[in-house]
Amino acid sequence: MTYYNGFPIQILRGPVPLSHLLLQNFVRDGYSAVDATCGNGHDTLLLAQLVGAGGHVWAFDIQQQAINATGDRLAEESLTNRATLIQRGHEELARYVTSPVQTVLFNLGYLPGGDRSIITLPDTTVIALKQSLELLMPNGIVIVTIYPGHNGGNEEQSAVENWATMLDPREFQCWRMNQINVSTSAPYMILVQKTS
Ligand SMILES: C[S@@+](CC[C@H](N)C(=O)[O-])C[C@H]1O[C@@H](n2cnc3c(N)ncnc32)[C@H](O)[C@@H]1O
Repeated sequence: MTYYNGFPIQILRGPVPLSHLLLQNFVRDGYSAVDATCGNGHDTLLLAQLVGAGGHVWAFDIQQQAINATGDRLAEESLTNRATLIQRGHEELARYVTSPVQTVLFNLGYLPGGDRSIITLPDTTVIALKQSLELLMPNGIVIVTIYPGHNGGNEEQSAVENWATMLDPREFQCWRMNQINVSTSAPYMILVQKTS
């Protein structure tokens, strides 16, 4: 965190800090949230902080390394009991999360600092996105950070955009948020809100 005159400043370098800014606005005490790709646990930790003692986070990842890193990060902040860590693919989301949630977060691609050949895949990502909308409460949001720049990233970008552009605007508000002064292959974000 950067500070100016003692106040925290959020530097919006890329979509992840922007997604955090939005989560800080949307996620309230007592909410249920899903981190569909927990990776190193940064997003899960923020969600666990935001949902408070009365809320809960379900965090998925297929890699043991990611589950361990996320568990360690939560433990450092004494927030272990606010999250359930599930070492399964997010395409099994609906099997593990059976009650409605207010927020689902996808941070696609590979695990930073891990095996870059293990990436999220178009088919399973779209399956999980469809399940997320089924689970979402009215006014709830799904945030997807997309990384077109790595091998396979373009295909996943197309799959997610095809899914998102087909959503009925009477039911879903669907936004694409990208930086306009960077490469077209830079990461960016899609946000879907289920209209009440
Ligand atoms: C960019 S990282 C996530 C970063 C993470 N949210 C954080 O805060 O550090 C993407 C993660 O997706 C995971 N992943 C790949 N396929 C998956 C799947 N089918 N279901 C759940 N996670 C998956 C990878 O193992 C990797 O850890």
